[in-house]
Amino acid sequence: MRLVRLVTQGFRNLDGLDLQTDARFVVVHGPNAQGKTNLLEAVWLLATLRPLRSHRVRDLVTWEQEQATVSGWVRGEAGTRHLRVDLGGPRRTAQLDGKAVGDLDDYFAWVRAIAFTPADGAIVTEGPALRRTWLDRAAFTAQPAHLGRVRELQRVLAQKSALLASDRPDTALLDVLDQQLARAGAALVEARVQTLRALAPHVRTLHRAIAGLEVDVQVRYRTEATGDDPAARQEALAVRLRSARRDELRRRRTLVGPQKDEVRLDLEGHAARHFGSRGQVRSLVLAMKLAELVAARARGDRPIFLLDDLSSELDRARTARLVEQLVDLDAQVWVSTTDPAHLGALPPGEVVTLGVAEGRVTVSD
Ligand SMILES: Nc1ncnc2c1ncn2[C@@H]1O[C@H](COP(=O)(O)OP(=O)(O)OP(=O)(O)O)[C@@H](O)[C@H]1O
Ligand SMILES: [Mg+2]
Repeated sequence: MRLVRLVTQGFRNLDGLDLQTDARFVVVHGPNAQGKTNLLEAVWLLATLRPLRSHRVRDLVTWEQEQATVSGWVRGEAGTRHLRVDLGGPRRTAQLDGKAVGDLDDYFAWVRAIAFTPADGAIVTEGPALRRTWLDRAAFTAQPAHLGRVRELQRVLAQKSALLASDRPDTALLDVLDQQLARAGAALVEARVQTLRALAPHVRTLHRAIAGLEVDVQVRYRTEATGDDPAARQEALAVRLRSARRDELRRRRTLVGPQKDEVRLDLEGHAARHFGSRGQVRSLVLAMKLAELVAARARGDRPIFLLDDLSSELDRARTARLVEQLVDLDAQVWVSTTDPAHLGALPPGEVVTLGVAEGRVTVSD
């Protein structure tokens, strides 16, 4: 899929934009603080209905304004669709070809994106929650229905936490919630494991391709919901929940479930989280994101790839190898940089270059 036209109103610092972007590579360049990341964020919002950086949708609306609109025309194998997102206060609404979207799966059927930003190093270096979120997002990109699994688990966990925190938790109700937790947890873990299984070999090869050397990369999912299928996982979780009941009541919080799982990332047998150098961490996260793109291609899908602030991320040799990988994968790539020279040679005739200055965007050579 390819975003061929992008129109924005009232979005961050960007002046009303109307850009033709029908190219494999969209290079966004300019000095610091001009609006490069904001432009990529507009694409991300269109593809995911979420902000790329902050948690609040209202941060995306230009200061002192009430609402923002991002509109895009996405061309896929089945034709071109007009997607539109409207933001007003904390709310957002989506439209597909001029009609309000009821079921978001209809919307996400037309657009998907994978993004890499400098902040993503945290996926490797911080606690397990960010790695689980990465995996859930990858599973969602592969299959939008994954969102339902994540929400179901959140719903059960929220109810269970509230019950455990209450004065005298009703144990019959706790039994019901634990059953639901085992079922929802098993479904979620199974989908995560399958997703990781599809990604892991690509993470290894891409890491080698970007780093330019052979490094033993291990990617593993650690869970108490063990087993070869969802039924076995559900049973394993149910057993663990039963044996943890007394502790959970005493400590008044949940102690068992996929919210405790870990995506373990090892370089040469050591946790990348504790031992990876900055460059290694960046290369690893890039390999993880690119792996999503390669796995998508194997499914016949080509999400849009957003690469924010390339210049600050890698040394020249690694950047050159990364660009080679991007040229090989035939997805549309939006890349922002302070200096397009960092990118080296991109395929002639397949590049749109956008210069960003104080929120104004001009097509340049
Ligand atoms: N809601 C908003 N309304 C108006 N301006 C905003 C809003 N959000 C962010 N900005 C401004 O947008 C400017 C550009 O931000 P952006 O992160 O896109 O810069 P950049 O070109 O990516 O810079 P860098 O190279 O430093 O990453 C920031 O200086 C910020 O003040
Ligand atoms: Mg930026």
